[in-house]
Amino acid sequence: MYKIGILFICIVMGIISCEENTSTKKLKENDCEKPTIKDPNEVKPMAQMMRTMANYCDTMRLKINKNEWVDSVAFPLMPFWSAEPTDSSVLETLFFDNAKRFENAYRKLMQDQNHQKENYTAVIATCVHCHNSYCSGPLRRIKKLPLDYKE
Ligand code: HEC
Repeated sequence: MYKIGILFICIVMGIISCEENTSTKKLKENDCEKPTIKDPNEVKPMAQMMRTMANYCDTMRLKINKNEWVDSVAFPLMPFWSAEPTDSSVLETLFFDNAKRFENAYRKLMQDQNHQKENYTAVIATCVHCHNSYCSGPLRRIKKLPLDYKE
């Protein structure tokens, strides 16, 4: 009788954990489409770095359009790929490949000051590229970052 009780509990737990799995899968499909969490304490480090990068880009865009220099002292590289994400299922090969593209483009922007316009445009292309695969919600924000965007 006791053993049957344990067995029963195991089966019930099995069913519950399966259901949990399917609900997290569903969550992943609409990834980032929903408005992000309102409570600032709940913002994960990766999301926080993304916000910082978007703010940097807002400022860099204006400076570069005025032919002012941007550098890595004012706009340091955000190593978001090693920060905790809201949804850890993004941490897969494609994500890290995209992150590497971004890192290379960003380093180039900071190192090669003679081609800031082209290099900045290339950085924004890597944001768009990754967001097309992972979380399309912020694309609305990213669409405002190109140099020729008109308010
Ligand atoms: C390698 C993939 C990748 C690249 C490159 C990338 N992002 Fe993201 N971005 C993500 C992922 C994944 C999230 C979700 C992060 C989270 O919620 O923890 C995100 C979230 C965001 C958010 C929403 C943050 C919030 O408020 O929750 C913004 C805004 C954003 N990214 C802007 C940018 C900008 C601007 C760039 C380029 C400068 C960029 N991203 C480059 C993958 C990427």
